[in-house]
Amino acid sequence: MMIKQANEADISILVTLIRSSFRDVAEKFKITAENCPKSPAFYTKERLEEDFKKGLRYFILEQDGQARGCVALEKASPDVCYLERLAVPPEYRRKGCGKILVNHIFDEARKTGVKRVEIGVISKNRKLKNWYKKFGFVQKGTKKFDHLPFTVAFMYREL
Ligand SMILES: CC(C)(COP(=O)(O)OP(=O)(O)OC[C@H]1O[C@@H](n2cnc3c(N)ncnc32)[C@H](O)[C@@H]1OP(=O)(O)O)[C@@H](O)C(=O)NCCC(=O)NCCS
Repeated sequence: MMIKQANEADISILVTLIRSSFRDVAEKFKITAENCPKSPAFYTKERLEEDFKKGLRYFILEQDGQARGCVALEKASPDVCYLERLAVPPEYRRKGCGKILVNHIFDEARKTGVKRVEIGVISKNRKLKNWYKKFGFVQKGTKKFDHLPFTVAFMYREL
C-alpha cells in the first residue's frame, strides 16, 4: 500500500471515493440531498475544485495501483489542522486502510508544525467516535447547526 498526495487530475477518483464511502452513512442517519446538500454523500467535482483552491491537501491510499481510500488535511490556524473527508468504500473496509490514512494525517500535520488535529463527526455515530478514541481523540463538545440534520461532535487529538 502507498499514499500519494492527490492533485487536480485525481478529482474524479476523489469524488467517487467520497460519495461511495458516505452513502451508507447518509442512509443510516437519514441524510438526504434535501435536508443536507453539503453532506459528503453528495460531493461534487466543483466542491473538490474549491477545496484545492482553499489549499486543502488530499491524500489517496493505493494498493496495486487502485485507490482504496482518501483523506484531506486542512490547516485551520498555526496550531490546528482539520482531518476531513476520511473515506474508505465499504468493499475495502476493516483491512486497516482507515488507520493508515489517519496515521498519515498525524505525520503530515506534525510536519506543518501544528499542535492539534481536530475532527467533526455525527454525534450519534458512536462506532465511529469509539474508533477515533482508539487513536487518542477526545471529545470536546457538541453543536447543533441550523443547516445540518444532526448534532456534530467535535473531537481533538494533541500531537
Ligand atoms: C471510518 C472508516 C474510514 C474506517 O475505514 P476502515 O478502512 O474500515 O478502517 P480500519 O480498517 O482501519 O478500521 C476498521 C474499524 O472501523 C471501525 N468503525 C468505524 N466506524 C464504523 C462504523 N460506522 N461502522 C462500523 N465500524 C466502524 C470498526 O469498528 C473497525 O474497528 P475494529 O476493526 O477494531 O473492530 C470507514 O468505515 C468509512 O469510510 N466510513 C464512512 C465514512 C466516514 O464515516 N468517515 C469518517 C468521517 S469523520
